Amino acid sequence: MLRRMQIFLVIIVLLSISTTGIFCIYFLGQYSDRMNVQMLASASELYHRELSAGQTYEQASVSCQTVFADESMKLRITVVDADGVVLYDNQQSAATMVNHAGRKEIKDAFATKGTATQKRHSATLNMDMLYLARYYPDLNEVIRSSVPLEIYQKGIQQMQYAFAGVMSASLLLLGALGYFYSRRLVRPLFELRSATESMAASNYSVRVQTNSSDEIGALSKAFNSMADQLEKEVRDLEEKNDKLAELQVMRAEFVANVSHELKTPLTSIRGFVETLRNGHIKDPAVQERFLEIIDIEVERLHQLISDILELSEIEGMEGELELQKFDLSTLLDDVATLLDDKATDSNISIIVEDCEQLPVLASKYRIKQILINLVDNAIKYNRVGGKVYIRATREPDRMIVIRVKDTGEGIAPEHLPRVFERFYRVDKSHSRQMGGTGLGLSIVKHIAQLYAGTATVESIEGAGSTFTVRLRIADDLS
Ligand SMILES: Nc1ncnc2c1ncn2[C@@H]1O[C@H](COP(=O)(O)OP(=O)(O)OP(=O)(O)O)[C@@H](O)[C@H]1O
Ligand SMILES: [Mg+2]
Repeated sequence: MLRRMQIFLVIIVLLSISTTGIFCIYFLGQYSDRMNVQMLASASELYHRELSAGQTYEQASVSCQTVFADESMKLRITVVDADGVVLYDNQQSAATMVNHAGRKEIKDAFATKGTATQKRHSATLNMDMLYLARYYPDLNEVIRSSVPLEIYQKGIQQMQYAFAGVMSASLLLLGALGYFYSRRLVRPLFELRSATESMAASNYSVRVQTNSSDEIGALSKAFNSMADQLEKEVRDLEEKNDKLAELQVMRAEFVANVSHELKTPLTSIRGFVETLRNGHIKDPAVQERFLEIIDIEVERLHQLISDILELSEIEGMEGELELQKFDLSTLLDDVATLLDDKATDSNISIIVEDCEQLPVLASKYRIKQILINLVDNAIKYNRVGGKVYIRATREPDRMIVIRVKDTGEGIAPEHLPRVFERFYRVDKSHSRQMGGTGLGLSIVKHIAQLYAGTATVESIEGAGSTFTVRLRIADDLS
């Protein structure tokens, strides 16, 4: 496109300069002819006047020369009578000259009794001449004045050369100017093209300069805003893709975890069932023991499945909670009583602190789930003779803070950030031994999120852990 534009520019310049030049030269030629004719007419007039004033042919010729001629241009004067006889010529002896009746300009002047001009070759002087013959009735003669064509043709030629020079110079100058200007004009387009190409190659961060205020500047601006838009959309898409991929990985992990968790008790159940069916075990006490183990594993399976169902139910919920009013401190007492037997087995005491009334608006079942899971952990991962402290307090903006603190084994710092993940257990075998599947804290966290809250943990290894759950459930209306 640049090339075409430059060629176009050069052609335009060439055409305009040459047409102007040609017209100028043509009109100059015309003008020069007219000027010469005028000069010859004046010379003729002057010559006639001098003759009338009584001067000789020769004297009149000299005065004409002084007025009209110079070194480079000699004025020729010829006087011819009605018969065509040359009476006088200032450049040739009249006696030697042939009859001029046949010369066209002289013939015309006599015929019209006026003035005639003629451009032709002079046989007498052997050169091209411009003639002006004028008939004077008082003399009944024609006075013919003439100049060699060559002299003013040379002038015109010089003028033509000068024109050609000026034309080529301006052509060069304008051409160069056009060349560089078009380059400058087109540069943003090149920039745009390379930007477009790199965008096509998935590089969305390219931008072009937009400092001109013309159409190209507008185009550049449009390009940049398109690039902004595209970059943003691609980034959004990538983010969504990442999230999707993450979700997929999580789902796959979840399925793998669930299958694994199901497999362990099932394998155990099948083993014991096979053994019993073989009939090798005769001792009824051992048979009873086996059945007991099977029962425990079935119970574990049941627990696992109901936890998974619970979790997916909570995850699927968004605000659609069955809210009811109840007193949280009473619920704390209930849960403490519920788990008291389990605690007593390990000689652990549960202490409910600060038992003032705490009216809340929430799903009682879900809040109870939180408390049971936290207190259950606090008992399971405690030491014999340890303590569990439960407390619920009120904070501004309808927030309730539930804190469950134990004096147990604690959690190492590297595990702390992960204990709320599904199936995550610090000590797998120990947890499994306790009948745990690693879903309890995950359920707690999800319920907290349902109530615009959070679940966090602080722990000192060997000294105990504190789980804190914040929930927006305080009932202001009661
Ligand atoms: N109070 C605590 N003290 C020490 N470690 C704890 C405590 N609570 C939880 N943990 C650790 O965090 C892990 C995850 O707890 P979570 O309640 O989610 O699962 P679980 O107790 O193993 O099984 P589940 O609760 O599903 O029966 C536990 O396995 C345990 O290692
Ligand atoms: Mg637990």
